[in-house]
Amino acid sequence: MLILSIETSCDETSAAVVKDGSEIFSNIISSQVEFHKKYGGIVPEIASRKHIEVINPIIQEALDNAKVTFKDLDAVAVTHGPGLIGSLIVGLSAAKSIAYALNIPLIGINHLEAHIYANFLNRKPQTANCKTTENLKNPKFPFICLVVSGGHTMLVVVEGHGKYKVIGRTRDDAAGEAFDKVARFLKIGYPGGPIIDKMAKEGNPTAINFTRPMLNDGFDFSFSGIKTAVVTHVKRNRDFQSQVPDLVASFQQAIVDVLVTKTIRAAKKYKCKSIALAGGVSANSCLRKGIKEKGKEEGITVIIPPLILCTDNAAMVGARAYYLLKEGKTSDFDLAAVASLRLA
Ligand code: KG4
Ligand code: ZN
Repeated sequence: MLILSIETSCDETSAAVVKDGSEIFSNIISSQVEFHKKYGGIVPEIASRKHIEVINPIIQEALDNAKVTFKDLDAVAVTHGPGLIGSLIVGLSAAKSIAYALNIPLIGINHLEAHIYANFLNRKPQTANCKTTENLKNPKFPFICLVVSGGHTMLVVVEGHGKYKVIGRTRDDAAGEAFDKVARFLKIGYPGGPIIDKMAKEGNPTAINFTRPMLNDGFDFSFSGIKTAVVTHVKRNRDFQSQVPDLVASFQQAIVDVLVTKTIRAAKKYKCKSIALAGGVSANSCLRKGIKEKGKEEGITVIIPPLILCTDNAAMVGARAYYLLKEGKTSDFDLAAVASLRLA
């Protein structure tokens, strides 16, 4: 089963060709980060316009790289939410046109589910665009998935394909949002996550003991307090410029400690033998290392997608779509873009 998948929920325009929900034939990702950088965040109007400019060439490139043509496709999958409404509509319109013209099924995909399904993609190196070295097994149900992106932070018990029990969410900022806001406050660039990740390697994570909100309290998260603690620390220490690496390393450690502690506790409580990570923040090297170490200590298998499949990409959309197509769950042509689509 060959699926063309499209992802335009935020600021990446991506198209992929995925076979049987696992094998990545191509996964083309065009990032708009350069256009949004100077504003310190994503400008939705610019995002929609940039998607329109590149969507057709990106789809063609995905087909060319996969060495297939439109006629080889069995279905078209597309993210229809959550995300920026104008951005979603660009991908959705393209997907509908292709599915209609080819008379093949259209499959609308929830972006958060797609992130979870990045864990089902074959992790062997496939193409020049998808150089990965890890080769891990698919997670076995039930497993705990920590979904950590720019807009969401959730702990989910994945009981089967499409069966999710959300056991915890953030009550304020998402983890990625906290990284981005702290980086913006410190004026060290955008997006904050990868910049802080890199800079933290030069700093001491125990230099400043930032608060770990709600560490021992249920499965919900709260990150705005850590962000405020960083701001307060900077205001009290006028010479903070010399300690920025220590500052970001300590901030990152506080976030990672909370994420790792709660995820491991959730796996134990819900008797899950595996943990999977999903979303842009799972690219964070401190989180990857921390959860792998703790998982090993506790005898829990930890699965993390390779970096390129953690942040937004269309291959993960194709992975989820395969299982829906197998169950005959396709979408009608009046499928709408839903900015605040929920997982469960
Ligand atoms: O999943 P994603 O690509 O887009 C959304 O669906 O939101 O996640 C983007 C988020 C941004 O907040 C970005 O700063 C964060 O993921 N991120 C990271 C890293 N790489 C991306 N956060 C921490 N460390 C990283 N290495
Ligand atoms: Zn995402």
